[in-house]
Amino acid sequence: MLGSSPEHDGAPHDSPSRAMLGNRRLRLRNPALSASRSILLIIGGGIAAYKCLELIRRLKDRGIVTRAILTKAGEEFVTPLSVGTLCGERCFTDLFSLTDEADIGHIALSRSTDLLVVAPATADLIAKMATGLANDLASTALLATDKRVLIAPAMNPRMWQHPATRRNMAQLEKDGVLVVGPNSGAMAERGENGPGRMAEPAEILAAIELALAGEATAQQRAIGFLGRLPGGAANPPGALAGRHVLVTSGPTHEAIDPVRYIANRSSGKQGHAIAAAAAAAGARVTLVSGPVALPDPAGVETVHVESAREMLAAVEAALPATIAVFTAAVADWRVADEAPEKMKKDGSALPPLALVENPDILATIAHLQSGRPDLVVGFAAETENVVAYAQAKLARKGCDLIVANDVGGTGVMGGDANTVHLVTSDGVESWPTLAKREVATRLVAHIARLAAARAGA
Ligand code: CTP
Repeated sequence: MLGSSPEHDGAPHDSPSRAMLGNRRLRLRNPALSASRSILLIIGGGIAAYKCLELIRRLKDRGIVTRAILTKAGEEFVTPLSVGTLCGERCFTDLFSLTDEADIGHIALSRSTDLLVVAPATADLIAKMATGLANDLASTALLATDKRVLIAPAMNPRMWQHPATRRNMAQLEKDGVLVVGPNSGAMAERGENGPGRMAEPAEILAAIELALAGEATAQQRAIGFLGRLPGGAANPPGALAGRHVLVTSGPTHEAIDPVRYIANRSSGKQGHAIAAAAAAAGARVTLVSGPVALPDPAGVETVHVESAREMLAAVEAALPATIAVFTAAVADWRVADEAPEKMKKDGSALPPLALVENPDILATIAHLQSGRPDLVVGFAAETENVVAYAQAKLARKGCDLIVANDVGGTGVMGGDANTVHLVTSDGVESWPTLAKREVATRLVAHIARLAAARAGA
């Protein structure tokens, strides 16, 4: 069957990240927790700086107290006056301003807050953070802080993909810095397209609330509150903090000619739910998605592709990653000779469609000699001999875990419930039938435990 791999359909229709936030909102209504919510927003020098004005307004709506530092380059894009007016207090700009030191020193500035947020995080600011440079107020505050830091990168796609930025991001990831975005799309520079657009204010706000909720959850855990949360299955935020998780999702489209393609029925719902659950657990997530009708999950860097070969290239470009989860229903075959022009009926014989096999993305990454993710997870939709076929697939593809999805029963494909078996070389763990959103949340918790065990091994 073409694209027989399982984009396990029927995950919840509402965005899981939205739902997670809904839960967080309920918890954060506790005035004891919301009273202390404050952030220090560091605005870097990029065209996306203008989005910070909208972000500050939204933070205010959510009752989050915002202080701001504007870098010298940032002042080229927004003014201290507009930032300060929206924050409700003056905006800090100068490391050596005596007035600032009299008001509040830069050390106190970076510690009298719950979270530091850098948006836009330019290539320059990221490089300073990665190397510990402190030559202005923003970089000094970042080096002096003892609080968590969330960055929203924004830069030209080539700068984002440059090996220097890749190295710096890998360092920040190791340092436990939280990341939201960047998104892919058209850049301010004419003709430039790709990853590098700063996350939207709503996405940054969602990431801030999750990061702040992580703090709150730590407090709750300290007083033994977490154990009493209903269901008990939610991932404590931060279970995947500092990890880069790569997820594939959706179908692939294999072109026959410029207007026709071969595809499968995958919706992308399960893969997107897993990406959102990993982001909610604090991971930096790259989602490589085939064509789907779903919105990009908030707080996730989504790369859009069409064909299996594009998906493989995007996966390779996204490495290194600590964890990779291959949920996509990749088409097994593509047309050998894609027609450059639309094929026309000429009244004679039907055109032959010769097929060639697509690369196996999961097997390619699982067999990497260097740069292999610590944990490689595959999916398998089976209708019979579910566990036995999954065990064979585990060995053949060289992955660490196969999530075998029993699609034999009625209502599994396209339904809201799912029955999965987790197959590793150590054995099989069978879960009861669960809501698909629950499968995503539990799977992320399971993966976080496996990754932690490997890191400790
Ligand atoms: N997969 C992949 N690249 C492919 C085919 C599959 O990355 N070209 C991944 C899927 O994302 C899934 C796993 O491999 O995680 C298993 O996919 P599946 O279609 O079940 O396996 P196949 O190798 O295609 O085996 P079969 O169709 O014979 O069951």
